[in-house]
Amino acid sequence: HTSEQDNWKKAAGEAAAQLVQDGMLIGLGTGSTANYFIQALGLRLQAGLQIAGAVPSSNASHDLAAQVGIPLTTLDAHPELDLYIDGADEIDPELRLLKGAGGALVREKIVASSAQRFIVIADPSKQVSHLGQNFPVPVEVTPFGVSPVLKHLQALGASAQIRVKNGSTFISDNSNLIVDCRFPQGISDPSSLDARIHQIVGVVETGLFIHMASQVIIGGPNGLQYLP
Ligand code: A5P
Repeated sequence: HTSEQDNWKKAAGEAAAQLVQDGMLIGLGTGSTANYFIQALGLRLQAGLQIAGAVPSSNASHDLAAQVGIPLTTLDAHPELDLYIDGADEIDPELRLLKGAGGALVREKIVASSAQRFIVIADPSKQVSHLGQNFPVPVEVTPFGVSPVLKHLQALGASAQIRVKNGSTFISDNSNLIVDCRFPQGISDPSSLDARIHQIVGVVETGLFIHMASQVIIGGPNGLQYLP
């Protein structure tokens, strides 16, 4: 059973796959929307497209990409990518993003920052007027430092909780913890919040992606919308 929302995600994923050209080095995002892109890219490769390689942003995307025949590589072999395609949890009018509901934010941000272009694929439910509206800000933390980090995050006004999934503490692909931060007073300046969280020792990365997205493709009831 495929919902309307899944069809919109799929349309955005397929549109992104059309942007891939022969010889490119591609970054593969994580999540249900990125999975549609990975599958569509697999089909294009079967049809004769030849890419130089793809770097996955999670173990899950690595496994799906391998299944659909995408040639995989690493940032060690190819530290500069042409194009990164990924979903997002929230997108604001300035194309700032909140990511990491799937817990892959560190590798996603590293791959995004290694790519010349980062194109976000989404359905309309991801568009918000202010980041933090629907999702907490995920902060990846080195386990040794998590208690002092929690105190510092609370001092920034966050209600901060160590992520739990299916009854156990969530461990990232990098063997770290995720602290989900809700800001009841709202996030007025995502860029300065990101900078302040980065100053806390023990923080590895945040799910705030500020001025990283080059373009957003939204699949929706009226077809595809390209922002800007
Ligand atoms: C993974 O850590 C997230 O950043 C994903 O990009 C995000 O959760 C989008 O996933 P969906 O496409 O499944 O909504």
